[in-house]
Formats: sequence, C-alpha cells, structure tokens
Amino acid sequence: MKYLPVEILKDFMIEVFCKVGVPLEDAKICANVLIASDLRGIESHGIGRLKMYYDRIKLGIQFPETKIDVIKDKYATAVWDGNHGMGHVIGYRAMQTAIDKAKQFGLGAVAVRNSTHYGICGYYAEMATKQDMIGMTFTNARPSVCPTNGVEPLLGTNPICFGAPTDLPYPFLYDAATSISQRGKVEQYAREEKDTPPYWAINLKGEPQTDTKRLLVDLIKQTASMLPIGGSEEVTGSHKGYGLSTMVEILSSALQNGGFLNQLLGMNQDGSAAPYKLGHFFMAINIDFFTEIVDFKKTCGDICRELQNSKLFPGQDRIYVAGEKEYENELQVLKRGVPIIPNLQKDIEFMQAELGISMLNL
Ligand SMILES: NC(=O)c1ccc[n+]([C@@H]2O[C@H](COP(=O)([O-])OP(=O)(O)OC[C@H]3O[C@@H](n4cnc5c(N)ncnc54)[C@H](O)[C@@H]3O)[C@@H](O)[C@H]2O)c1
Repeated sequence: MKYLPVEILKDFMIEVFCKVGVPLEDAKICANVLIASDLRGIESHGIGRLKMYYDRIKLGIQFPETKIDVIKDKYATAVWDGNHGMGHVIGYRAMQTAIDKAKQFGLGAVAVRNSTHYGICGYYAEMATKQDMIGMTFTNARPSVCPTNGVEPLLGTNPICFGAPTDLPYPFLYDAATSISQRGKVEQYAREEKDTPPYWAINLKGEPQTDTKRLLVDLIKQTASMLPIGGSEEVTGSHKGYGLSTMVEILSSALQNGGFLNQLLGMNQDGSAAPYKLGHFFMAINIDFFTEIVDFKKTCGDICRELQNSKLFPGQDRIYVAGEKEYENELQVLKRGVPIIPNLQKDIEFMQAELGISMLNL
C-alpha cells in the first residue's frame, strides 16, 4: 500500500480533468469534492472514482463543460437542467444558490435534472453548515436496489444527507445511501479483491450474491440487486429503507420533471451508452431565521454529547455521532496521505499513460 500526499493527489485530479476538457475553475471544484471524500475516508468516492468520470467523458455521456439552464427561479426556489455536465460543478453551484436564497428568505431549495454523478453528498451539506445553516441534499442514482418483497433493481442507492452545525469541532453530518451498502463500496471491494458480505445484495432468486466481480456485472444486467436499509424482509425494517429511497427518488425527479428508476440506466434501447439523467435536490435552512445560532449549536452539541456519553453495548468502547469518524479520519489522512491500493495504482498509471502526464511517480 502506498500513500500519496493530499495536495499532490488533488493537483493530479485537476490535471486529469483539465486534460479531458473540464475548464480549470470547474476542475478545481471536481477535485475538491473528490479529495474531500478521500480525506473523510470514503475511499469509494474519491480518487477511486476518477477513472469512472474519465471514462464517461471519453464515452460522450457526460460533458466536461457544464452548461446549466435555469428552468424556474422564484424567491426561495429554483429548478435547473444540468445538461449532462459535471455533477460536482452542478452540485456546488446549486448548493451555493440554495445558501444564497436562504440568506435572503430563510430557506433555499434547488431541484436539478439531467445531471451526472456528483460524488459524496456530504460535501454540499457541509457548504451550508460552514455558513451556520442546515444543509440537506439527496440524489437518485442508476438502478441497483430492489423494493421490499421484490428482486428487480429499480431504485438507486439514493443517499440522504443532513448536516447541522454544532459547538463540537465538527458538524453533525449524516451522509449515507438508503441501501445497506452502495455501489461504490462494491467497486472498492472489487479493487481490493474481496467478497461482498452476504447481506448486501441478492440475485433474482433472492439468494445472497457475494461474488463481487460478478455482482458488478449482474447489477448492470439487472440480474442482481442491492438491498435497501433493513434488508429483504419487513421484520428487519426493509420497508423503511425502501420508503426512504423512494422519497429520495421523488425529490430527485418529480419536482424537476426529470428521469427516474429505469430511465436512469445510462443506456439507449439498442444497448448503446447514454447519459444517466440523474436528478438532485439541495436545501439550505438559515438557522438565524429561527433562533440564535449559538443556542442552536449548543443544543446540537448537547444532543451529540448525551448520545456519545450514554451506556455502551457490551464489548463496544465508544459511541459516535454522524460526522465524527470522518472528522477524525481527515486529521489522519492530512498527516499520512491517501492510501493507493495496487488496483487503483493501475487506474492512475492507465490515465497518466493515455493523457501523457507523469505527475505521480508510483
Ligand atoms: N452520488 C451517489 O450516487 C451516491 C450514492 C450512494 C452513496 N453516495 C455517497 O457514498 C458515501 C458513503 O455512503 P455509505 O452508504 O457507504 O455510508 P456509510 O454506510 O459508510 O455511512 C456513513 C454515515 O454514517 C455515519 N456513521 C458511521 N459509523 C457510525 C457510527 N458508529 N455511529 C454513528 N454514525 C456513524 C457517518 O458519520 C456517515 O454520516 C456517502 O458520502 C454518500 O453520499 C453517493
């Protein structure tokens, strides 16, 4: 395992994005979102995902230049069409617009259609918490999760993200898929050559699908499915993950007349590659319109502390709140660098060779 310094890796990603036609300012936004993921320890969505964007741009299903159409803009709300540009750029600008609206109106919300994969939701929610606001964002994703009592992958891993500022050194930042695990983690397991845990995915017979490489192929063929939070049965709460995922699908498509479920397959009827037509939803809540920010942060901090200091489950040594592990991980990665496993090294070497760059000496 090699470790690369954060700044060097970020510069490499900027260079790759620029080489495939992303304007420099936009390339910096994309690299910032990706490196934030590596800093937080979400290896599935950082440098590990760079080649996916690279491949999609080369394939012509995602455009390096981001041209946003404003479909509607009224007071606290807006609807945008991302025209299959860079999801990170669309996400950054949409959340900034939601924050600006919340400064004026107390709330701000932007619904987006025809976007592309925007990476980790937490980056955008944290833009709001840094400005003393609550930030929320949701996105749909290509079909890979079945409904409760079903086996057909229709929903995306549809993450939910909620961030609130606290008086702790980090915000409360809940940022996770509405499925037990998410596709990026399966890809990470493939890079690490590990089996998929048996509760994550099933085949069309409802049996656990643990062969990771096969699972990635079967998800595309729609002959396997990731499971919603709660698994496959009502008794373990499958219907709750399913319901939350459907909520995300609605917020990511119905307000913006965008694509949903099987329309997000990234495939034309003849099987050729097509844009994914993803939708996102962003919301900022200006705490100042409700209460004193200092009081709000103290209440959130008190909630976190009371949870953290509560009695432990036997054998466990610590209770966390959302956002805490990522904060601690960031401190560690800043010192140690980003881990580069051998299969990721191959991806990096491949992109360097194709683009004629030699920034990273692996
Ligand atoms: N763009 C997309 O299409 C897409 C789709 C799915 C997921 N994602 C992203 O992938 C990332 C990872 O998603 P995931 O589903 O693998 O997340 P995960 O299962 O790793 O859960 C992460 C969340 O749980 C919290 N957490 C972890 N352990 C905890 C504990 N013991 N106690 C309290 N909280 C704890 C973390 O702070 C974080 O908020 C997220 O950033 C998400 O936005 C993106």
